[in-house]
Formats: sequence, structure tokens, C-alpha cells
Amino acid sequence: LTASLALSPDHVVGPVRRRLFGSFVEHLGRCVRTGIHEPGHPTADEDGFRGDVLELTRELGVSVVRYPGGNFVSGYRWEDGVGPVASRPTRRDLAWRSIEDNAVGLDEFARWARKADVEVMYAVNLGTRGVAEALDVHEYANHEGGTHLSELRRANGSPEPHGVRLWCLGNEMDGPWQTGHKTAHEYGRLAAETARALRQAEPDLELVACGSSNSAMPTFGAWEDTVLALTYDQVDHISLHAYYEPLDGDVASFLASAVDMDYFIERVAATADAVGARLKSDKRITLSFDEWNVWYLSRFQADPPTEWRVAPPLLEDVYDVTDAVVVGSLLISLLRHSDRVAVACQAQLVNVIAPIRAEPGGPAWRQTTFHPFALTSRLAAGDVLRVAVDSPTVPTARYGDVPAVDAVATHSADGGTVLFVVNRHLSEPVELTVPLAALGEVEVVEAWGLHDEDTTATNSVTEPDRVIPTPSSAAVVDGVLRATLPPVSWHVIRVA
Ligand code: AHR
Repeated sequence: LTASLALSPDHVVGPVRRRLFGSFVEHLGRCVRTGIHEPGHPTADEDGFRGDVLELTRELGVSVVRYPGGNFVSGYRWEDGVGPVASRPTRRDLAWRSIEDNAVGLDEFARWARKADVEVMYAVNLGTRGVAEALDVHEYANHEGGTHLSELRRANGSPEPHGVRLWCLGNEMDGPWQTGHKTAHEYGRLAAETARALRQAEPDLELVACGSSNSAMPTFGAWEDTVLALTYDQVDHISLHAYYEPLDGDVASFLASAVDMDYFIERVAATADAVGARLKSDKRITLSFDEWNVWYLSRFQADPPTEWRVAPPLLEDVYDVTDAVVVGSLLISLLRHSDRVAVACQAQLVNVIAPIRAEPGGPAWRQTTFHPFALTSRLAAGDVLRVAVDSPTVPTARYGDVPAVDAVATHSADGGTVLFVVNRHLSEPVELTVPLAALGEVEVVEAWGLHDEDTTATNSVTEPDRVIPTPSSAAVVDGVLRATLPPVSWHVIRVA
């Protein structure tokens, strides 16, 4: 099979936004406890943070981390997680049927974020709580001093405000599984009033309203329409969440998951613009894709937690080569929409459906999915370019015929042009050609591929580097880039 791409540095979609390389730390399973935090671990620092996980977080190239949930946040009392650890209460976490001992809270997470050099994106509880508690946590986190809660923060060992700029107004409030689930109208009103109050405290916060939990929700579209009609002037972003897995063994559709991500992004943007038009507003709402990943959700649903435990091993999906190719292709979709998607968070960071795994008391390692994320974060720079793809198609049960090859490119004066390409064909390699005359005289500076004869290969504590990117044989000959893309493969090629 053959495919070709056409691109030009003049065809710019938008800037590469660093916040596209976000992640997510929820009080869920072993993401916090024995994930980022494990006092007594051989690599733990003076605050009990695992040094090996911090190092891998930096290597992953994460820019912003959403916290503290997720479904967890809808039953969370933020004040349980501040002050002397010994006197913090132990609570039930209804979302994950777990016990939360509150050994880590806002101050610890903010400290961890500073060490990891990431921005904090903080979600407030609009499931079982409301405007007053959102104002309280904002006062604690961001008010300089001289008030009850800001002085409490200072007394608790954080003299400087945490300066959180990006706030989520609840989590997945459209989902019947959410504690305190609401109708679009109920939620829209609460989100608008919470936003208005937060802005009275600090006008230039960036606020995210909850959109749909996935594009198949029965309320998808209507939910965004109602919520945005009620919050348009108060919020900056609307959220999207999406998880993908091969259902009923349908790997062809799974490999084409970015088709759904494209669809979802474009429909939410269109709905937001329709609301803006109705309101005769010049304002443009941007999108916060603040949960996305491969998640074997059906396995979790078949075997939900039954025991009440602290930090039980939950959602510890082990990712293979195909999963990594899908993650790479979802990053292509996010980059392609960088005119509209302002924030994106891969869910989650460590142990829980995560690119990083960490053994309690033992080593941490990179899952297969770590690699496309880390390479995309490291190499995407400057502007995102629109790429025209001419590719054979593959049939899928879910999305019909889809192009086997998908791609996006970025371009910057000093980094050159970087192509991100995926071959979603299950069995056929593709010979790729890309005429590069528009870029002047260039050669391949760096090229990596992620693929394996065994697409089910995984990394593990005993074989942590079984699946790693390998240098690819891409080359520029007479102004044309040529590369062989094996079946089920993801690639990044930098020319300059
Ligand atoms: O990331 C796991 C869960 O997925 C989150 O808690 C929730 O928001 C979503 O349904």
C-alpha cells in the first residue's frame, strides 16, 4: 500500500499549546498512595514523594495535572486533606468504594506539582457541595493572607498562595454514576453561580464547565447547549472526556478511535459556537479535553471493588503496542484541533490507567503508552500544520471506511518540521511519501517508530523496556520524505 501527505508551513491550524500535554492525578486506587506518594520508598524525598515517579513525570513532558478527581471529587471535602496529617479524618470514597485516609491533600499536591514543574488544574466538588465550599477552597489555595482560610494555609506550612489559575467546575455531572448527578439545567445554574462567585474573588481565573462524559451519552449535544447557554459569559472552557478500548475484539475500530475524538471535538465546538451565535456573543469558548485515554473499562465494570480498602489496586491496565499506537493517534487528533482544544489531560498519570507504573517499595517503569506521549510532548513545537492525507482506507465496524494513515505536523523556526504519523492497517505496511519542497532543503534529523511484530507485547516490572521506540529508516531523497510504516505503527519524524 502507498500513501502520501501534503503540507506547507503556511497552512497553520494554531499554536502547539503546551497544556495539551496534561495529565491527571485522582484519589483513586494507587495513583496518589504508592503512586506519586510513598513515604519510606527507597526513592522517597523529605515529603514522601517518590523520586522515580517524579523523574518519569518530567521525562513524560507533562505540563498541567488535574486534581483531585474525577468521580472522587464529587464526594470530597477538601478541608479533610489539610492540616496535621495525624488529625485528618478517614472517609468513605463512594465513587471507587475505597477508604480515603487523606494523608495527601491540596498542600501536598501543590508541593508535588512544584517539584514536577507542572501547573495545577483543580476540580471543585459540585456533586455534594456548592458555591460556598468552592469559595473556601479558592480562599485557602489562592488568597494571599489575612483571612481565616489563607492564614490556615500559612499555618499549615504553605506561606505562599498556590496560585491555581485553572479550575474545573465539578466533574462529569451529566453521568448518572456521579455522586450528586444533575440535569443540565440544575448543573448549568450551579456552575454559573459558582463561576460568578469565584470571579468575584479573582476575576482572571480560567474556568471549565462540565461537558459530556463521552460522545455516546444520551444527553450529548443537548447537555452542552443547555449548560453553555447558562454559563457562556462566566466560563472559558467546556470539558470533554473519552476513553477507548477494543470492544468485542474489534481492534480495527479501536485503532480508528481518533475518528470519534475528531467527531466529538468538532461537534462540541459547533455546539458552543451555536450558543455563542444565539447570544450574539463574540466570545469563543475553548475545549478542555481533560480526560482521555485507552481504558479497559469493561474489565473494571465486570469486576468492581467490593471491599473498603485504602489505595486498592484499581484500573491498573497493562498497555500493549496497539494501545500505544492508539494513544499516539489520539495525540494526533488533539494536535490537529489546537485551534480549539486549549487543555488536554491524559487520564491518569501513575498506576491507574497510566503511562507510568510503580511497584509499592519497588521500581517504577514506562508502559508502552508512555513513549508516544513523551515523544510528542518533546518534539511538537511552534505551530500545528494542516496535513492533507491521501491514504488507502481500512474497513471498520464502528466508523465505516477510515484512512489507514493519519497524520499531523508541527513547524517552528528552530525545531524544524515534525511529522506525527500512524498506520492503522492491521496487516499491511504502507510506503509513505511526503514532498517537502515547501520546506526548502531539509533532511531527517530524528525519526522514531513504535511497532512490534507482536502487537500484544507489553512492558512489565521484569521487562520494563520490552517495547520502546526504535530509530526509523525515514529519509529525504530528492526533496521527498520516504518512510515505511509497518502495520499498527506510530511514528515521529523531524526534518530540518
Ligand atoms: O479516570 C477515571 C474516571 O473516569 C474518572 O474518575 C471519571 O471522571 C471518569 O469517568
